[in-house]
Amino acid sequence: MSKSNGEVHKPNDYVTTFDPDAYFQHYFGKSIEDGTRVSLFALPVFAHLIVQTMRPNERQTLLDIGAGPTVYSALCFRDVVKEIYLTDYVEKNLDRVKEWLAGSTTYDWKPTIKVILRTEGGHFLQQGIIETSEEKAKGVVKCGGVCFADVHQNPVVPNMEGRQVDILLTIFTLESACQTYEQYKVCMKNMMNHLRPGGRFILGSVLEDDEYNSGRSVMFTLLNLTETKILNALEEVGIDMGSVKKYVLNDEGVMFLMATKF
Ligand SMILES: C[S@@+](CC[C@H](N)C(=O)[O-])C[C@H]1O[C@@H](n2cnc3c(N)ncnc32)[C@H](O)[C@@H]1O
Repeated sequence: MSKSNGEVHKPNDYVTTFDPDAYFQHYFGKSIEDGTRVSLFALPVFAHLIVQTMRPNERQTLLDIGAGPTVYSALCFRDVVKEIYLTDYVEKNLDRVKEWLAGSTTYDWKPTIKVILRTEGGHFLQQGIIETSEEKAKGVVKCGGVCFADVHQNPVVPNMEGRQVDILLTIFTLESACQTYEQYKVCMKNMMNHLRPGGRFILGSVLEDDEYNSGRSVMFTLLNLTETKILNALEEVGIDMGSVKKYVLNDEGVMFLMATKF
């Protein structure tokens, strides 16, 4: 149990049972080559939009809250910012990311990188481009960090020591970390404290679902969220609603959006 804002928070079961290998196998399995992992479509598009609309000195830092054992945000934003902070609540997820940085990971990110490069418009992949892109992403994370985060606490990422970032990203995290909509709104507010005014917020969320399934077994439960509830929560925490760019993928039951903080 962790205390947050005077309220006692009961972590979801998966925080203790989360298995990064099972998560990889299910989520980043053989379908990755087909590009069906929707984040790999949305994030390169957002990265491209940011490069077009923010000057280099306005986009130095990116914080990914609840990255899990994954590094695809670093792969997608490797050329956009100078420092990337990958954070999570579960220690073994952070260990997986550190293994990747150290070159000792057993997970092969190359098929993922290929999909990202294709989404970026690389029709003919040059010799060595996959390796170069991965090294670039590692370099940007080494300039940033791999840190503990708890969305129920304020600050969410104590290691940031009050520094605000230019881009705040969180994919499929809040709906797994919260049990009630009230908690969701508090966590959203906590996270937003890490984003500077004028910075970009990128959210990936599961819509209208109660559990995350792998085959027939439930991997963990989710807070059931509608698009309207998510947008209302964003408005309450100072997001410029006129700036929202969103993709709702009804067949996949997910929404991706990017918006600016007032
Ligand atoms: C469904 S996974 C998403 C991982 C990754 N962002 C992705 O898109 O594949 C949810 C992540 O939220 C993290 N998480 C759960 N509770 C959290 C909390 N209180 N604070 C921060 N992260 C949390 C979990 O450890 C897990 O890595």
